[in-house]
Amino acid sequence: MIETIQQTIVSRRTIRKFLPDDIPLHTIVEILEDAKWAPNHKLREPWEVLLYKGDGKVRLIEHIQESIARTEFNEEKVEKKKEKINQFIRDIPIHLVVAVKAAGTEKERHEDFAATCAFIQNIQLLSWAKGLGVVWKTNGFIFDPSFRDEMGLDPGDVIVGMLHIGKPAFIPNPKERKSIKNKLTIYDTQPKKQPSFF
Ligand SMILES: Cc1cc2nc3c(=O)[nH]c(=O)nc-3n(C[C@H](O)[C@H](O)[C@H](O)COP(=O)(O)O)c2cc1C
Repeated sequence: MIETIQQTIVSRRTIRKFLPDDIPLHTIVEILEDAKWAPNHKLREPWEVLLYKGDGKVRLIEHIQESIARTEFNEEKVEKKKEKINQFIRDIPIHLVVAVKAAGTEKERHEDFAATCAFIQNIQLLSWAKGLGVVWKTNGFIFDPSFRDEMGLDPGDVIVGMLHIGKPAFIPNPKERKSIKNKLTIYDTQPKKQPSFF
């Protein structure tokens, strides 16, 4: 069944439980090729994507574990968190780190961050349309400058999110959203002119 874009946007859910099934690399590259049509000012295409799959995931696990060891001082918690992340990354077939160059003027940085968020939402929607689930995560380690450095990113780069992708094992029910009327102010007529005193 071909979904309309409206159906894809509304039905997409963040997926947190995945099947172990392998995802072919070309499927993800296809998604990224389409996602790159996200609006971006001056066509700077500011996003950078690091993709981890198969044995490549070991490198990602090591860098995250090193970051945990740097930022968590309780030995017991360090070991628990390290094992949790090890299992999490191994169990999910594809991991993307999506970063943006935080360079230039405030306006350019603002535009580039916003464009990268649009790029990420395209990835989420295109994945969903192909039967794949995504969770967009912003764990503490993405803010660790040494982690970004070890990942091969530049000092100015900002990680906008980590995307974990696979076939959904469980699709949660949607959490209700408020009516947009709560967030919408409509100006439909010109304000009345002040009565003239003369
Ligand atoms: C910028 C951003 C950061 C997020 N970070 C996390 C995260 O760190 N962990 C997580 O479980 N979900 C994260 N999410 C997913 C949201 O929790 C999720 O979108 C929200 O619960 C609404 O669910 P839905 O996407 O199914 O509509 C993030 C989403 C966005 C847009």
